[in-house]
Amino acid sequence: MIEIIPTDSALGADVAGVDLSVPLSAHNFGTIYQAWMRHVVLRFRDQSLTDDQLMDFSRNFGPLDRNPRHAKAEHRSMGDSSDYVNVISNVVENGRAIGGLGHYEAKWHSDMSYNPVPPMASALYALEVPPAGGDTSFSNMYSAFEALDEETRERIANLTCVHDSSLNSVGQLRVGFEEVTDPRHTPGAVHPLVRTHPVTGRRCLFLGRRRNAYISGLDLPDSEALLDVLWAQAAAPEHTWTQQWRVGDLVLWDNRAALHRRDDFDGTARRIMHRTQIGGDRPF
Ligand code: SIN
Repeated sequence: MIEIIPTDSALGADVAGVDLSVPLSAHNFGTIYQAWMRHVVLRFRDQSLTDDQLMDFSRNFGPLDRNPRHAKAEHRSMGDSSDYVNVISNVVENGRAIGGLGHYEAKWHSDMSYNPVPPMASALYALEVPPAGGDTSFSNMYSAFEALDEETRERIANLTCVHDSSLNSVGQLRVGFEEVTDPRHTPGAVHPLVRTHPVTGRRCLFLGRRRNAYISGLDLPDSEALLDVLWAQAAAPEHTWTQQWRVGDLVLWDNRAALHRRDDFDGTARRIMHRTQIGGDRPF
């Protein structure tokens, strides 16, 4: 029997009693989907998944987006799981990093929000975890929006913001980009600051990433000041829940309604995670 056990925080729930390595029944998928819409982030413990099984589970929610590390390099396409499974790891084998983000802190972000049509969801599966550190925190953008005062909610209702594509979440410059010196010229998609979730119909903050963000049409100091207010709200502890990883955990989150960040960890320890990205639609 599948069981949904909410955390005592603003988001997140455990889903117990389900084996994700085999196809989900329509009933179990319906239960999981409803729980996901309600709790924004779901954790499935004690799973044992191949990449194909991780992709099959993820495809229940929609077609997959390509691994961002391959998306811009068509010639590197292998036509296999490496096209869709993004390895996030600090492990180096034969002098070559097997994945991205190293052992560094990843700042609050929504995956690939620098794209005009960002993925609606990500599923992150833990194959190896360090003995300490590397926790991933999530923040609920519904409750962050709802907790803003009415004047601020009205002020931001029709504003848009650029989501920087030049830096990854650990602050490394992506290949082909130059360092941004003036956020008014930041490259990346421009999205509404407040989006309407296409399934729940609820409004939520959609901030993407703080560095190099700029609210279209405002003077730079005004943009910075407003972004600081919104980010203080978005990262406030009352909206967050932190996942401490165990091998076999799979965490599924809704990029439309949650931000996430990751703690750094000892670079001599090993952490290997495989992530899928589930395609979304243009934020509105
Ligand atoms: C990510 O931003 O998707 C990575 C999170 C993590 O490594 O825990």
